[in-house]
Amino acid sequence: MNLKDQLQDSVFQTVAQVAKEQGLETYVVGGYVRDLLLKRESKDIDFVCVGSGITLAKAVQKKLGRNLPLSVFKNFGTAMIKNGEQELEFVGARKESYDRNSRKPVVEDGTLEDDQNRRDFTINALAISLNEADYGELVDPFDGVQDLKEKLIKTPLAPETTFSDDPLRMMRAIRFASQLNFDIDADTYEGISKMKDRISIVSAERIIVELNKIILSKKPSYGFKLLFHSGLLKIIFPELVKLQGVDSIDDKSHKDNFYHTLQVLDNISENTDKLYLRWAAIMHDIAKPATKRFNKKVGWTFHGHEDKGARMTPKIFRRLKLPLGESMRYVQKLVRLHLRPIALVKDEITDSAVRRLLFEAGDDVEDLMTLCRADITSKNNHKVKRFLQNFNKVERKMREVEEKDKIRNFQPVITGQMIMETFDLKPGRTIGDIKEALKEAVLDGVIKNEFEEAYNYMIEMGREKGLTVVKTLK
Ligand code: CTP
Repeated sequence: MNLKDQLQDSVFQTVAQVAKEQGLETYVVGGYVRDLLLKRESKDIDFVCVGSGITLAKAVQKKLGRNLPLSVFKNFGTAMIKNGEQELEFVGARKESYDRNSRKPVVEDGTLEDDQNRRDFTINALAISLNEADYGELVDPFDGVQDLKEKLIKTPLAPETTFSDDPLRMMRAIRFASQLNFDIDADTYEGISKMKDRISIVSAERIIVELNKIILSKKPSYGFKLLFHSGLLKIIFPELVKLQGVDSIDDKSHKDNFYHTLQVLDNISENTDKLYLRWAAIMHDIAKPATKRFNKKVGWTFHGHEDKGARMTPKIFRRLKLPLGESMRYVQKLVRLHLRPIALVKDEITDSAVRRLLFEAGDDVEDLMTLCRADITSKNNHKVKRFLQNFNKVERKMREVEEKDKIRNFQPVITGQMIMETFDLKPGRTIGDIKEALKEAVLDGVIKNEFEEAYNYMIEMGREKGLTVVKTLK
């Protein structure tokens, strides 16, 4: 197969020219070739040459001019040119273990064939020649094109060999299956089940990259089911596996919270590409196993799972090497609040309850509602419809209240400083108490969040506490 016409980017001509000048046999290889054949967009291009990738990269950089940034990773024998948005990666063909992230890479020069042997999957081991004699010709020693047609993830060598080289590839197999909606070849899958324990030698930082790619795929439940059935999930994310299973007592059973969670994740993925909103779906019921109780009258309960789940979030994020700042707090907030909109519907929707939810959710209130909608996984269409209509009602009410009271980004109009000056107080508990009471009064709708009303309320509160006004601020 010749793909000359598909190598549109002028960079291919440039690299081919330089390769000729340097006398280096050179190919485009890996993900770029795969995506080209799949007609998927891909920015980054990997080049492999028989010889020094670093020498080739330096010469290409010179030829491209414009002094493009070049990074050389001597230990790995690779070099990268940043060409605008695009990353051009150059590597010399190698034998033996391939692991660009391992601390002590064993690099031994090899032929193109050696290099293709050491790659992860047949569909990633495709190369296109940039050499004068056969420019554009596809080199496909493992029938990768056939596997692309059959939508199959398969290791080029025996799975044990390929996975021993780099156990992260077990995660990558599932990640590609999930991203591309491919099957995993039976032997390859068996290899994962057999070798799953080896994943423990891979750093959490590398694992989370693949897991996040699974989460960002169109139907993440597919990847999670593969992770679950192969046994990998239990090793990398045991808390999620604990959700699986159904208990029954006196003919009363609860739903399987693992499959429910995956359904919520798929549902939310239809409505958002935000990684951490998807993470909130994964985490929303994480504390159900820990809070599960059976009560003869009401059956199974999971009281407090939202608070406990929020408390579990930092520990899980830390272990998985997910960020611990704003993104974690966002997930934590959504987990903690995920039952509130439903609770609102069950009781009468009062202004005060809506104000409290708006205050607590702030600018994340829309995302919270997206999560709540995704959380409706009943098979009873009637029920689903009723819930969704109720959520519409809640949202209408939220808009009304927000317009009236501007609670979402609530900032108290009376500051601690004002309280201290008014009653001549030193910093202390009383000030916090008055501030809290003012906030409660606003949320309860006793006063508006305006200076006049809040000020008068503060004076009244102070008097009740036996304080004397020493300075008037009006
Ligand atoms: N590769 C490998 N084993 C790994 C990682 C990468 O064999 N553990 C090889 C594969 O041939 C892969 C290429 O290196 O195609 C580039 O890797 P990477 O950039 O991680 O993946 P892509 O295939 O480019 O896919 P994506 O861009 O979706 O990550």
